[in-house]
Amino acid sequence: MLEKNPVIFIILAFIVIMVGTAVTMIAPFKWINDPGDRIAEVKPYSPLQQEGRDIYMREGCNNCHSQTVRTLAVDVERYGYGGGYSKSGEFVYDRPQLWGSRRTGPDLARIGLKYIDPKGMWHRKHMDNPQSVVPASNMPAYAFLNTPLDTTYSERKMKLLKFPYTQADLDDLKGKSEMDAIIAYMRKLGTDIPVKKAAAAQHLPASRINPFSDLKAIKAEALSIYARDCASCHGDKREGTLGPALKGSARPDAELFAIIANGIEANGMPSFSGSLDEQKIWKLVTLIKLGKQDD
Ligand code: HEC
Ligand code: HEC
Repeated sequence: MLEKNPVIFIILAFIVIMVGTAVTMIAPFKWINDPGDRIAEVKPYSPLQQEGRDIYMREGCNNCHSQTVRTLAVDVERYGYGGGYSKSGEFVYDRPQLWGSRRTGPDLARIGLKYIDPKGMWHRKHMDNPQSVVPASNMPAYAFLNTPLDTTYSERKMKLLKFPYTQADLDDLKGKSEMDAIIAYMRKLGTDIPVKKAAAAQHLPASRINPFSDLKAIKAEALSIYARDCASCHGDKREGTLGPALKGSARPDAELFAIIANGIEANGMPSFSGSLDEQKIWKLVTLIKLGKQDD
């Protein structure tokens, strides 16, 4: 019997384990990461973004934030922001990858799609003091990143990673802070992949008439949508912070609908047609038009 001969037994056990290892860990390289998985639009990081990425690792943001949208429908819904689930081609320039294994905070794989934030104002406010944007947040404040960026190794990093860069990219680092770098990194995440924006850009209601003319009936629901999706930029009491105050707007209902559905991306107002249905947008319009008092 085999177990009576320890040498042969050990050799056979070793072979079995090695076969298992080869099949599960080595063989897959035959069919993953081939040129077909590449996504042409995915670009390497600029020197500033790469510095931001390094600060992200140094500060351990990956201990609280994942960077991968799983293939589950709930994940795509929550964190996809129109980009769908994460594909391997999105990570070709990530060395190391920062998929993470813990979500104390939300997934950040598409955070650049969630907050277009052209001037980085949202991120700056949130990083300086997360509770000023999300009162219940347990994210620590990172105001200390407002220090000059150390660029000693910036060029070497680009060379080592074989990322293309220009002298202008390097000059761009002058006078930048660590905060600027991490914001540049946040604003890039998820923005390379082609997103079906064409449909969203044209989003208009089926009818131009707001079906909700009675604020009382929908107020509780509208306030809860507002608290979740809008308060971080328009203030808890709609008094306006990063975005303007939203009280008793004079704009016509259909115009407000279009702004909320399509956003004004160039100025930092995100589009909500992907995450809010028509009914919910109309309810917000009613709240913005009729809700004058502090509620
Ligand atoms: C202790 C855990 C923790 C750490 C560490 C942490 N965060 Fe967060 N983060 C959170 C939580 C919780 C939220 C959700 C509440 C909020 O928006 O503040 C969040 C939210 C965010 C958001 C907004 C996400 C969204 O979908 O609105 C960004 C961007 C972000 N964090 C970036 C960072 C960066 C960059 C770092 C490192 C410099 C970092 N976080 C470190 C817990 C953390
Ligand atoms: C990331 C920040 C941010 C979030 C989140 C956000 N907004 Fe805005 N919003 C802005 C900014 C910035 C402007 C100003 C755009 C401009 O002036 O062109 C704006 C403008 C608007 C306007 C036009 C106001 C006016 O009279 O000019 C409306 C209406 C509006 N937002 C509604 C909403 C609603 C409703 C939500 C939630 C579903 C929301 N916003 C979420 C940043 C945001």
